Amino acid sequence: MAGTFPKGFIWGTATAAHQVEGGNTASDLWLMEMAKDSIFAEPSGDACDHYHRCEQDIALLKGLGFDCYRFSIEWARVEPEEGFFSKAALDHYRRMIAACHAMRVIPMVTFHHFTAPLWFTRDGGWENPKSVDRFARYCEVAGRALGDLITFACTINEANIPIMVTMMRRAVGIGGGSKRERALAEAARLSGGEPGKFSPYLSGNGIVAAPNLIAAHRKGYETLKPLIDGKVGITLALNNFQAEAGGEELFKTSDHAVNGQFLESVKGDDYVGVQTYTRVRFGKDGVLPPPEGCERTQMGYEFYPEALEATIRQAAKVSGCPVMVTENGIGTEDDTRRIAYTQRALEGVLRCIADGIDVRGYIHWSMMDNFEWLEGYRPKFGLVEVDRTTQSRKPKPSAYWLGDVAKRNALG
Ligand code: GCO
Repeated sequence: MAGTFPKGFIWGTATAAHQVEGGNTASDLWLMEMAKDSIFAEPSGDACDHYHRCEQDIALLKGLGFDCYRFSIEWARVEPEEGFFSKAALDHYRRMIAACHAMRVIPMVTFHHFTAPLWFTRDGGWENPKSVDRFARYCEVAGRALGDLITFACTINEANIPIMVTMMRRAVGIGGGSKRERALAEAARLSGGEPGKFSPYLSGNGIVAAPNLIAAHRKGYETLKPLIDGKVGITLALNNFQAEAGGEELFKTSDHAVNGQFLESVKGDDYVGVQTYTRVRFGKDGVLPPPEGCERTQMGYEFYPEALEATIRQAAKVSGCPVMVTENGIGTEDDTRRIAYTQRALEGVLRCIADGIDVRGYIHWSMMDNFEWLEGYRPKFGLVEVDRTTQSRKPKPSAYWLGDVAKRNALG
């Protein structure tokens, strides 16, 4: 299917600080990754050294044809100890955002992308109601330092993912079970915190965290709004939930807890960020595995690019906000499958637009191969390959392909 995107449609690529910057030593995950018997496949270490190479990386994405870069500023660098704000770290991010403007790249800046300062997570993370004010204070300081240069601000990346991971962990037993609990106990001990309190974003109790995250987004939004010279919103992990025979009830309650309540809570925001990778099917007894014989990605997900069309429709309908696709992509060693996946996902975007849905842009995850959390560096989500010994970058065919779609603002 061919087609043209609306004039001014935004084309970008995304990263997140901890996954690419390297040396995020004041963060919660650094401690967990380095611990003996870590639940991480490997530590993030130097990552892609993006902290020092961000300007070349922005130039690279611009050269490929993209006009937007979504990245995150790292709270653990900005506020490495509670109440101490690093002017040097804020100056770094200011230079980085200024570099975007100098290269005519729209900066989309995420304030929290999974990692947090160790002090925050040691004291209960997002399970602690104090998280709301702690996050708002960080937004205020960072917003004052950077806001005049920010075109799109995103408060929290995938505020609904802690509850999703917790519910999935219970439904299908993913997430490490007792190994995870041991790792959290060890992290509490190593960090000098109270046992049972250490709560990182993706491995804590997401059911307890959810209301605090919704409140933190609201307060962060109100704090940032007057400080940002642009739009403010949130991004949500919206996998396409589907009911199979007998799974209707479970689908309904899960879809509301994970997707619906968050989409309802962002009504009136400047935009909502949709992040979609696959579908999740519910049967009578819980989440079903991917259909027998289907193509799977390196993450084990079903290759199902049509999920994006469904989640854009859901996000627009429930939230009423303009939609930005802020993440969509595939972990694969076979770059031809990345092109096939993205082509089909974009066809879905065109169908949404044809139906009058206000979709403002498409930002691909990810600009480059990077640290995929528990999985380490094995899954390859990048449009650009990174040699982590030399830190040299090499665009894959998919990077040229998608860059060309961006330049032409058209598919096919
Ligand atoms: C996400 C994440 C990314 C992941 C990506 C691939 O928001 O889920 O932003 O950090 O790397 O989703 O799994």
